[in-house]
Amino acid sequence: MNTTKSLYDQYVVPSYSRSLVMTHGKGTEIWDDSGKRYLDFGGGIAVNCLGHAPQVVAETLHRQASELIHTSNLYYHAKQGELAQKLVELTGPGKIFFCNSGAEANECLYKLARRFGNAEGRFEIITTLNSFHGRTLAGIAATGQEKIKSGFGPLMTGFVHVPYNDLEAVQNAITPQTAAVLIEGIQGESGVYAASPEFLLGLRKLCTEKNILLLMDCVQCGMFRTGKFMSYEQILADHPNGKAFLPDGISMAKSLGSGFPIGATWIRTPYADLLQPGSHGTTYGGTPLACAVALTVLETIQKNNLPASIEVVGKKILTTLTPLLGGKHLKSLRGMGGMIGIETDQTGLEMATQLREEGLLVAPAGGNNFRLLPPYNVKEEEVNEALVILTRKLS
Ligand SMILES: Cc1ncc(COP(=O)(O)O)c(C=O)c1O
Repeated sequence: MNTTKSLYDQYVVPSYSRSLVMTHGKGTEIWDDSGKRYLDFGGGIAVNCLGHAPQVVAETLHRQASELIHTSNLYYHAKQGELAQKLVELTGPGKIFFCNSGAEANECLYKLARRFGNAEGRFEIITTLNSFHGRTLAGIAATGQEKIKSGFGPLMTGFVHVPYNDLEAVQNAITPQTAAVLIEGIQGESGVYAASPEFLLGLRKLCTEKNILLLMDCVQCGMFRTGKFMSYEQILADHPNGKAFLPDGISMAKSLGSGFPIGATWIRTPYADLLQPGSHGTTYGGTPLACAVALTVLETIQKNNLPASIEVVGKKILTTLTPLLGGKHLKSLRGMGGMIGIETDQTGLEMATQLREEGLLVAPAGGNNFRLLPPYNVKEEEVNEALVILTRKLS
């Protein structure tokens, strides 16, 4: 057996089902240990927004690693301040807590909600069915999918689930204990289902009226994946009241580091000072290395006008595949920018396996869905190549 696979079999906890042994990548291309080349439209599950081995990230890593890698949060360093400023400028008035992953960025939101409601005995967080919020114990309790929770009881209390895009259900779920509502801007793991403009604006109004925090998990759909920094900006782009929309807290990770682990939680003023010294923390949160990379990633995205490019890519994919709807395989199609959900007559995993054999990597999602999550700098000829494969498979 292949040595890498046998090492995994013997020494790695088998909590994932894996397929190929990857050796190297460049941009949208990646190669396995047989020398076969693939187009990577799975993007490391919405992470590799600049593609594989981006030169700018490699250079930043090298430069910053030669200067300062880690200090702990007992000290200040320039990069964390600069990145926090950048994220606040991109999002809205507030402050940033830095961590290392999406699940951790959400943990900060849960603790924020608890701290916010603590004096009045409020602790409940309303989340949605079919959501995904990460694999920590609080994350699986927040997640609205039974298969994620199964076998890990007793679950952490304080999470209530309602159908997505159902404002009335949220309203009915509010109790004197409710502290927050948490939704994904676009539900990613369950198949790319976006919040409707009415749901977002209705939630904002409801939460303000009831003095409840509106929290958004933008771990997968944020960081320009839809063509706007946050998915809600894209969803509300054409709505007359869209510009004024702002949640109270947002979790970010994935594409923020384009492959280098970093998570961040934006907290809106006036809630940004609720978490005081001693109340929350993580050793590696916001290291000079991680922050330098994220600054480079954001700068590269903006300097090269990648938000506009990925928006065009998304439109092209939808336009090209839409005529196949109603045919034998393609059942539905949705999404925006670099986050496209495709429902077929087979499970996401089955489809991903078949497309892989054709040289195209995609990310499976819930039910009969798979996702296209290409890098924002994917080349036009690579999109065309992927579309030829998809058209052949889905016709
Ligand atoms: C919406 C959402 N939230 C949270 C997470 C968890 O992020 P991580 O795997 O970095 O902990 C994910 C991961 O897929 C996600 O899609």
